[in-house]
Order: sequence, then C-alpha cells, then structure tokens
Amino acid sequence: MDLYCVMGNPVEHSKSPWIHARFAELTGQRLHYGKRLIPLANFAASLREFMNDAAGTARGCNITVPFKFEAAAVATRVSARAELARAANILSFEAGGIHADNTDGIGLVDDIQRNAGLALAGRDVLLIGAGGAAAGVLGPLIEARPARIAIANRTHAKAVALAERHQALALLQKTELLTPDLQGLQGKFDVIINATASSLSGAGVPVPGSVLRPGALAYDMMYGPAARGFMAWALEHGAVPRDGLGMLVEQAAEAFLIWRGVRPPSAQVLAELRAVME
Ligand code: ATR
Repeated sequence: MDLYCVMGNPVEHSKSPWIHARFAELTGQRLHYGKRLIPLANFAASLREFMNDAAGTARGCNITVPFKFEAAAVATRVSARAELARAANILSFEAGGIHADNTDGIGLVDDIQRNAGLALAGRDVLLIGAGGAAAGVLGPLIEARPARIAIANRTHAKAVALAERHQALALLQKTELLTPDLQGLQGKFDVIINATASSLSGAGVPVPGSVLRPGALAYDMMYGPAARGFMAWALEHGAVPRDGLGMLVEQAAEAFLIWRGVRPPSAQVLAELRAVME
C-alpha cells in the first residue's frame, strides 16, 4: 500500500494521521498515513529509513517542527514557494529524487478566504513574527494581494530581512511590504496574524488592541491551549478570533492534492475535527 507519514519531534499529538485517513476515506483512496518521532540529530537518516520502508511503498511525508528547514535542504527539487520560505512541510518521493514544497501559506490563505469568508485582496494585514512560521506563509499571503502587509517582530532586523527576501514578489503583486517597530506599533488592520511563539512561553500578545479595526480578524497560527491567550485578547478588543486548526486542515488538503491528484472536502473534515476536539 502507498505509505505516508508525518515526521517531527514532538509528533505524538499530531492530528495529521487523523486528517489524512479521513481525506482518504472520503475520496476513496487507499493509503496508510502514520507518524514518526525523529531523533533531533537524525533527520536525513530517518527520512532514508522511511523511504526504504519494506512494509509498503513510501510516497511522501509531511514535515513538522523542527525539521522544516532540513527538509528543504535535503530535497533534490524545491518549489518556488518552499525556496522563498526556506522551509518545506511536504516531501514527495519521485524517481531518483525528493521534491520539497510548502503548503502552510496556502493553507492559511485558504482558511482565511474560504472558511472564514474574508477576501484578502485590498486589505491591511499585520503579520506578527519573523521566524520560521512567518516565513512559511508570507509568499502565499502576498499572492492573495492585500494592499499592505506590515511585518512586526521583536527583533526588527529579522522582519527587515524577511521583507527584503519577498520584495520582488510584493512588487509584482502590487502589495506594499512594511516593517514597523513592534514597540509602540500604530495603524489599523483588517487582519492580524500571530506567527510568534510568544504564547508558548506564557508571554502576552506583543501588540496593543488599538491596531485592530472593529470586526478585524485576529488569527493565531496555533490551535488548542497554545492559541487561547490570543483568542481571549481578540475577543476582549472586539475582533473576530480564529485559531490555526483550519490552516492545519487546509495545508493537509493541499498536500493530499499534490500526492493523490484529488482535492478532499476540507471544510467537512475541519468541522468533524473541531467536533472531536471539543
Ligand atoms: P517558529 O518556527 O515557530 O516561527 P522561530 O523561528 O523560533 O519559531 O520564531 C519565533 C518567533 O516568535 C519569532 O518571531 C520571535 O521573535 P524574535 O525573532 O525576536 O525571536 C517570536 N517570539 C518568541 N517569543 C516572543 C515573545 N515573548 N514576544 C514577542 N515575540 C516572540
């Protein structure tokens, strides 16, 4: 049988096996999708081991924290969006090589536009953070053609470097890229996206509530307990909160499409996943 898996560390709580099993059921595809805990210093060897798995035919894998950078580096062919992100969340095994891609950004954009019903074109967007999570989504965010994307990060130089790397794409799409200081941030935004790890360390939301336009969408790329602080902050300031569960399902749907050539009914699977998680 065709084999897939998610590789990460930690990986125990990954919802990807559940999501892909449901996609396979609903589209009538025969495959097995597991999870593999990868020792921190052993990514390349563990990947080879999976590719040679005797139990079936390994076709590809998803990559999660902290291996997304290594995954892009080991590939023989890298998509333009993974190249820009310098990170991959999906590998496809092909004759003589490994193709790396990144579906995180399109997952975020699909969740905002299709599931939350907010068209990004012409909007003012604030992206908080400039680490791996932010880098993974900036390209597809620009391709959705908001009027402006402000990237604000605790370490300002990282926001500037990330913006510079995306400047050519932004010019092409006529989206203005700004890098305001996080301290004392001003302006009003229709959409703000939290791509920082600040909630994991128990720190508060690093921007004032005044940056939200009334009814703005306040999106945390995390879900579950890690997103709770940001969700509460959004509600307190009159914004519409949304966690990253939809992004998780939509990035998986894009991966499934790449591997199997079929788009699964992601909105249905997202509703089912929310119900089982409650
Ligand atoms: P990830 O892959 O999850 O993005 P990362 O690459 O380590 O992880 O990036 C973490 C992001 O969260 C960075 O933007 C980081 O800011 P710095 O670049 O200044 O380190 C941000 N971050 C982490 N803790 C934070 C905090 N307490 N307040 C504000 N930003 C924080």
